[in-house]
Amino acid sequence: MTSQTTVPTTTQQLRQAFLDYFASKQHQIVSSSSLIPANDPTLLFTNAGMVQFKETFLGQEKRNYQRATSCQRCVRAGGKHNDLENVGYTARHHTFFEMLGNFSFGDYFKREAIAFAWEFLTETLKLPTDKLWVTVFRDDDEAAAIWIDEIGVDPARLTRCGEKDNFWSMGDTGPCGPCTEIFYDHGPEVAGGPPGTPEEDGDRYIEIWNLVFMQYDRDNSGTLNPLPKPSVDTGMGLERLAAVMQGVHSNYEIDLFQNLLKAIANMAEMDDHNHASIKVIADHIRSSAFLVVDGIVPANEGRGYVLRRIIRRALRHGHKLGLNDRFFYRLVAVLDAEMGEAYPELHKAKDLVARVLKQEEERFAETLDHGMKILEQAIGELSAQEIPGSVVFKLYDTYGFPVDLTADIARERSLSLDMPGFESAMEAQRQRARAASQFEGNWDQTGITLEQKTEFTGYDTLSETVTIAALFHEQQAVDCLHNGQQGQIVLDSTPFYAESGGQVGDTGLLSQGDTQFKVLDTQKSGDAFIHLGQVQGGDIKVGDSLSAQVDGSKRDATARNHSATHLLHAALREILGDHVQQKGSLVDPQRLRFDFSHFEAIHPEQLQQIEQRVNQEILKNIEVKTQLMSLEAAKDSGAMALFGEKYADDVRVLSMGAFSVELCGGIHVNRIGDIGLFKISSESGVAAGVRRIEAITGLGTQAWVEQTQNQVNTLAQLLKTTPDALESRVQQLLEQLKSNEKTLKQLQDQLNSNQGSDLAGDAVEVNGIKVLAAHIKNADVKTLRDLLDQLKNKLGSAAIVLATVKGDKITLVAGVTKAETGKIKAGALVNFVAQQVGGKGGGRPDMAQAGGNQPQALDGALKSVVAWVQDQ
Ligand code: SER
Repeated sequence: MTSQTTVPTTTQQLRQAFLDYFASKQHQIVSSSSLIPANDPTLLFTNAGMVQFKETFLGQEKRNYQRATSCQRCVRAGGKHNDLENVGYTARHHTFFEMLGNFSFGDYFKREAIAFAWEFLTETLKLPTDKLWVTVFRDDDEAAAIWIDEIGVDPARLTRCGEKDNFWSMGDTGPCGPCTEIFYDHGPEVAGGPPGTPEEDGDRYIEIWNLVFMQYDRDNSGTLNPLPKPSVDTGMGLERLAAVMQGVHSNYEIDLFQNLLKAIANMAEMDDHNHASIKVIADHIRSSAFLVVDGIVPANEGRGYVLRRIIRRALRHGHKLGLNDRFFYRLVAVLDAEMGEAYPELHKAKDLVARVLKQEEERFAETLDHGMKILEQAIGELSAQEIPGSVVFKLYDTYGFPVDLTADIARERSLSLDMPGFESAMEAQRQRARAASQFEGNWDQTGITLEQKTEFTGYDTLSETVTIAALFHEQQAVDCLHNGQQGQIVLDSTPFYAESGGQVGDTGLLSQGDTQFKVLDTQKSGDAFIHLGQVQGGDIKVGDSLSAQVDGSKRDATARNHSATHLLHAALREILGDHVQQKGSLVDPQRLRFDFSHFEAIHPEQLQQIEQRVNQEILKNIEVKTQLMSLEAAKDSGAMALFGEKYADDVRVLSMGAFSVELCGGIHVNRIGDIGLFKISSESGVAAGVRRIEAITGLGTQAWVEQTQNQVNTLAQLLKTTPDALESRVQQLLEQLKSNEKTLKQLQDQLNSNQGSDLAGDAVEVNGIKVLAAHIKNADVKTLRDLLDQLKNKLGSAAIVLATVKGDKITLVAGVTKAETGKIKAGALVNFVAQQVGGKGGGRPDMAQAGGNQPQALDGALKSVVAWVQDQ
């Protein structure tokens, strides 16, 4: 009896079959790593399965296995491998995709890698051998021989290609090597030629698997240095493989995409799922959602900007389909249903992801409408087939239109962009920004480079004798700074901390007898420390020796705020979650300011919890420990580092017990108890997805407590009570105020009604109608109306005008009882009076209102009413 195994075809089955196959060949199954390469500033996003193994290939990291396999989530948008522009327009490009891979770290090499790949494709997946084509690197005779002699591939289906196709590099630097690729022939009904032919860019022969023979590490100069041991890194796009196995030609036709495409088409009320914009959106929701899962939020720079571009491109395509209402974020649920099982991190973060995307949709909604109008107008006025650089720049700069979005729209209209014009507008803006920045405050903008390596002694001391290595005055190197001049001093060694890592530069004094240089700020350029300030009492010269004294109390206050920043960072991650990442930090003697990724305002209770958590740690009074170690060792110790930050090979790791371990070159307290009381002073939003907390410590908190207490004491005195009883006193006063207002109102009503009765007696009878025109003091319009109603009731058949004056402003109301409106119209009556006092008005026949601005004419005007009624 033969057992028949079914061939895997669904995406889910293929993922599993691949991992199972390589596990059966002694490969360790490793989970997908984050899309943000851990501590690798050379790479924007994880763009291949090998990224998490980069250091293993380089021999810098040892793992307890030499063979691994994974299904890695990847993003190719921005950076070296960027497919963003092609998405939606080809059958196989994605910003987000899953890469199946097997890896050998100095274990097997070409022969086994090729044999495994062939066995998996032809035996596990049962693909016909005549559908498979292969390429090898130009000079790689060894790989060619394995394919032809050992595997038995028909030489007619093997092509040798150059560096562009068959030499793979992760980025500009890092592991790389020649590769061999396997292609699948989608059949003659699809246009395109075999690899290496002029028609190769068609969709018929699609590369499905890339086997890289990792042999080199490319350094900054471009030199290829051999790796310690030749290794293997393979990558196969899961979506492409699924297309092959499901007998479809486009990746968008595979099972994984169907529900997403359907959901988008439904929202747009379209029957056709094939529209390029629907595909763009289906692709972009995957990359956008997973980037947010991995801690990125839309921003104006770096990874956050790429995410913003992807989201905005999707929204623009939605706009084209008539999806003008928030729609993108609603796809997160559909994506979760499709991929949440394979990626539990997506399922867990789905609500957060939806919120972040919705927020970005809201931000972009206005931009899009406005920007599209500008663009349409510019397109309407074009005389050539090119959109001017100035328009592209305006859209980018003023309306937040990413350039590739404009390019995308241009492409649909067969227009091009004037990119040189755009670049020059950008450059002009950069120059304006440079000119606007102050020389004094920003050394880097001077263009002066310094060779001096200043030794920093300030971790251990606040004072020492130092020597002047260079002097500057008005951006020029000088030998001497004269009495009274402002300038910059570069020292051979210094205890002054130079601004970096968010901590401000030290202030203090450099002195030589009676000559003093007041240091107002310290900055760094390369390894040189620059002291900015003014000389007083004499001249100073290059080579002079000075006594340096850092302002200790400011330094201590800064150190307290800096250490508290680390505790705050740790508390935020503990209480709000691991998505919290530092986005900016400023530490000075007065306060700390910490910006971090988080998608909504922090609830007051959470804020209180964060504050309490930090203070709990402070009270433990743990010693702050600093250790110098290799970057490697620091990462192994789990120290928190900033993504994208460049670190030296040896780094300073600062730990406050296990609660906070961070890479940091700044100045800190000795024991965390030195921080004193930590108090959050504000929480606010600085950009979409970025929050800011400001806080105070030490003497700052003490000053705040004193000030608050003084305020409380003053209030207590003013309210004639004690601070403890302040709350009940205020309650009591508020109640009293309320009851007084009520009494006042009653009295006012009573007064009005008395006034009404008095006034009724002043009415004059004209032709059977009681006529009354009166000036009421200190009334408002409501009082006038109430009074008018009372008088109408009281007089029975009447024509009444009431006026009140406030400053120069007259308010008039007129009323006529219903039965008399046939003869007399309230509107005409009020107008008659108003005209005499510089105004006019109108209203219903029984009730009308008007204004005026000549109070001196009011009495006469009111007197004329009786005669006017007589004439009606
Ligand atoms: N790193 C190679 C690629 O991305 C193979 O995994 O194609």
